[in-house]
Amino acid sequence: MYNNILVPVDGSEKSALAALHGAELASKTGSKLFLFHVVPSLPPYIDTAPDRLSKVQQSIMDQLIEQGNIILSKVNDDLAAYGLNIHTDIAVGNPAEQIIKKAKEINCELVIMGSRGLGEIKGILMGSVSNKVTKHAGCPVMIVR
Ligand SMILES: Nc1ncnc2c1ncn2[C@@H]1O[C@H](COP(=O)(O)OP(=O)(O)OP(=O)(O)O)[C@@H](O)[C@H]1O
Ligand SMILES: [Mg+2]
Repeated sequence: MYNNILVPVDGSEKSALAALHGAELASKTGSKLFLFHVVPSLPPYIDTAPDRLSKVQQSIMDQLIEQGNIILSKVNDDLAAYGLNIHTDIAVGNPAEQIIKKAKEINCELVIMGSRGLGEIKGILMGSVSNKVTKHAGCPVMIVR
């Protein structure tokens, strides 16, 4: 039933927990596990000193991508004991939109994600990314809390 499971990870504890659930399920069902990270795109400051800013933006983006790859490697390493077929990928853009797009691309039958991520607003049950993915993904979404 589950050939492809997608777990979006943002470096938060809840997303690491979601990855564990993904690994458990993948090991029982023989499915492929996809870990996916999205680097949110930076706002386009086009009005002021474009040359200097674009260099700064590029450098920030490069560091965020590097950080994203570290997040993916860490989660991947933590799941090593499962001996699974794990794919990792990174994208730049709006996190929820990119996750929904990735889910379509890989034809996944299930997305597993944390209820919350790195956001600092206390007291809400679900963050904006899990909220949007739950509403708009074309497959079931498991929310881990
Ligand atoms: N940039 C991202 N890349 C991949 N997965 C993400 C990303 N951001 C969030 N997620 C996934 O969504 C889950 C919920 O995070 P979400 O961002 O919705 O909550 P939050 O950070 O607490 O709130 P908000 O971002 O709305 O302030 C995370 O546990 C993770 O699985
Ligand atoms: Mg967030």
